[in-house]
Amino acid sequence: MRQETRAVPLSGPYLDEREEELVLEVLRSGRLSLGPTIDRFEELFAEKVGAPYAAAVSSGTAGLHLLCVSAGIEPGDEVITSPYSFAASANCFIYEGGVPVFADIDRRTFNFDPAAVEAAVTPRTKAIVAVDIYGYPCELDELRAIADKHGLAFVQDSCEAVGAEYKGSTIGSHGPPAVFAFYPNKQMTTGEGGMVTTHSEEEWRLLRSLRNQGRGDEGGWLEHVRLGFNYRIDDVRAGLGIGQLEKLDEILSLRDEVARRYSVLLSDVDGVELPCADDDSHKRSWFVYVVALPDNAARERVIAHFEREGIGYNRYLPSIHLQPYMRERFGFREGLCPVAEDVSSRTLALPFFTALASDAQERVAEALATAL
Ligand SMILES: Cc1ncc(COP(=O)(O)O)c(C=O)c1O
Repeated sequence: MRQETRAVPLSGPYLDEREEELVLEVLRSGRLSLGPTIDRFEELFAEKVGAPYAAAVSSGTAGLHLLCVSAGIEPGDEVITSPYSFAASANCFIYEGGVPVFADIDRRTFNFDPAAVEAAVTPRTKAIVAVDIYGYPCELDELRAIADKHGLAFVQDSCEAVGAEYKGSTIGSHGPPAVFAFYPNKQMTTGEGGMVTTHSEEEWRLLRSLRNQGRGDEGGWLEHVRLGFNYRIDDVRAGLGIGQLEKLDEILSLRDEVARRYSVLLSDVDGVELPCADDDSHKRSWFVYVVALPDNAARERVIAHFEREGIGYNRYLPSIHLQPYMRERFGFREGLCPVAEDVSSRTLALPFFTALASDAQERVAEALATAL
């Protein structure tokens, strides 16, 4: 009984003395921002994902916004993005006056359906923001082909997908600029933080300027060559990030194991659809463990039971176009993206983190089975 009443949190970071040591090193160095630890973090990250350049930023959202600035999105430009994502996938271009166009998702992967993206292109389309939702790579080749055919900018929102692989190589290595995020529920964390990878030295220089108040490579502290932002990360967080990168392989493999245990525990539970499996072209980096239930009523039954049991959960993810501010500003209504709306109404994130113990997972599986 005592065992059974212990809470199971939804997520949690995976840290040890190494991160403490690296953060202390930065604190003792006196170089808290614009210092060498950021450069090192960027170099190591670029190397890890196989991109020639990386620019660290204050959040994933900041990174996405900067890529929208770099893509030249202007007021009235349409940008196609996924309705089944975190709000920042759309907000990032709305900041620049871009107009969101939501293309529906694939029922199995929860990522963009390329046919829906093609159908959403108009003469006003400027860019595509593709998302690797829940760490599962999007249909990168098909989507890039659509962007190339219509002369569109392409941004990859890989905020949930550090370490994922598409057609045998790591996300970030394929060519389009990609953004990664390091909030504490992510695979690796810097507290708050993000990283943009790019294959263009020119874009990298622009990103470094934009994140740093529009300062140029040369010129002084008080010279601003363009409209910039303060989207800098600091060296303290970069130190934390280096510690996390050092153990990223271990983190990803432990998360694989946690996911594998869930798939065994849940395989016989009636009414639970598991996250789609990897195939030759797609290798997921496990960010969250989201199951689909028969309908919203079943989900609410499970949630009520989880609350009684002290088990963490979240209704991942509501459709972005149905968020109150989206309805109000752009007039979006139910029916625009039927697949995303259906999936949103019945998906549930279970407790999932690197150090999640198997007995806690057994409790979650039991609670799920009991509630259903
Ligand atoms: C798909 C996706 N895009 C963007 C973001 C934004 O990242 P951040 O919270 O670091 O701004 C997140 C993180 O929550 C995300 O999951």
